Parts: sequence; C-alpha cells; structure tokens
Amino acid sequence: MNARWLAPLGLLLLGCNGRMWPASMEQQPALQPLDEARPAPAGSIPVGGVETLEDREDDKDSPPPHPLDAAASARGAKLFAIHCIACHGREGRGDGPVSAKFPPAPNLRHVSICARSDGFLYGTLTAGGRAMPTMREGTTSQDRWDLVAFVRTLQSEGCVGKLAPVPGDTP
Ligand code: HEC
Repeated sequence: MNARWLAPLGLLLLGCNGRMWPASMEQQPALQPLDEARPAPAGSIPVGGVETLEDREDDKDSPPPHPLDAAASARGAKLFAIHCIACHGREGRGDGPVSAKFPPAPNLRHVSICARSDGFLYGTLTAGGRAMPTMREGTTSQDRWDLVAFVRTLQSEGCVGKLAPVPGDTP
C-alpha cells in the first residue's frame, strides 16, 4: 500500500475507536430482556397472529365485516357447541355445568345482552368480559363474528328479563 494513505487511515481508525465499533456487545441499541417491544410503525396492519384488544368497549362501534346471516349463524352454532356450552348451556340459557361452580354465565337472551351492539358482543369474545374468558385464542376473527350471528339467532326467539344488570355485571 502507498505510504501516503497510512496517516489518514490511522487517524480514521483512532477517531472511530470505541464509538462506531463499540468493543462490548452490551453497548448496542438492541432491545434488552424485559424492555418493551418497539411500537409498530404508523399505518401497520396485522397479517397474522392473535388480535389484541384491551377492552371490549373499544370494539363496540365496529360493524360486522360480513353479513350476520343464516350461513354465519349456522357456522356460529357449531363453534358455540365447542366453545360456549360448558358455561352458557346447550341453548345459551346460562345453565352449563361450569356455571354451577364459576360466576354463572347469563342467559344470552337477556334483554341487556339483546341491547348490546354487535361490536360489543364481538369485543366481549375477543377481549373477554368481567368473568367471561377471552375467546380469541383458538378462534379466528370470522369465527367470533359467526358466534355473534348465532347469539343474535338465539335472541330472535325473544329476549327475556328486565333491564337490570347482567349477572356478574355491575351497572
Ligand atoms: C368459563 C365460562 C364461560 C365461557 C366458556 C363463555 N362464557 Fe360468555 N360469559 C360468561 C360469564 C360468567 C359472563 C357474565 C359476566 C361477563 O360479562 O363477564 C358471560 C357473558 C357473556 C356475554 C354477555 C356480554 C354482555 O355483557 O353483554 C356474551 C354475549 C357471551 N358471554 C357469549 C359467549 C360466547 C359466544 C361464548 C363461546 C364462544 C362464551 N360466552 C363462552 C362465562 C363464559
């Protein structure tokens, strides 16, 4: 190498020493254990994974992305038999075996549940309620809207009760 370059190269290396190339792996901008994950860039949309929702109220104005029609309700009925009857009972009357030992699940035809928006019911299934567990693991977003369609079918038989708090609910 031409000797003319040695002096500037040496200066450059001296200048960078310990700054551009830190000697220790700990001195790096990487996330450390228990650090909070970086927020997603603005405008990102999820393409997979499990939907997060802090509170069921946050979804109360969400409209169903597909019609809550007979086909959706029929799919919802099958999912209801898998995920819901242990607490809400085979016909959604709140008499499932778990309700004997757990905060009792309400009759899904209760007037106060009939009065909920579709988005609120979807939010309850996604984020959970007070005693109602979140259902987002093991169900897709479409499954949960289909379940809302089925709950609406149950309610179309007629709503019961007075506009009092849902069991387990506080006014
Ligand atoms: C472990 C028992 C349990 C399971 C399983 C369960 N629920 Fe619930 N659910 C409850 C309880 C208890 C409440 C009342 C208190 C609350 O809202 O958290 C409730 C409340 C509800 C409400 C009323 C929300 C409101 O306040 O308007 C709806 C709708 C509902 N459940 C639907 C479902 C559906 C659909 C499934 C199945 C995907 C399901 N639940 C599975 C226990 C359960």
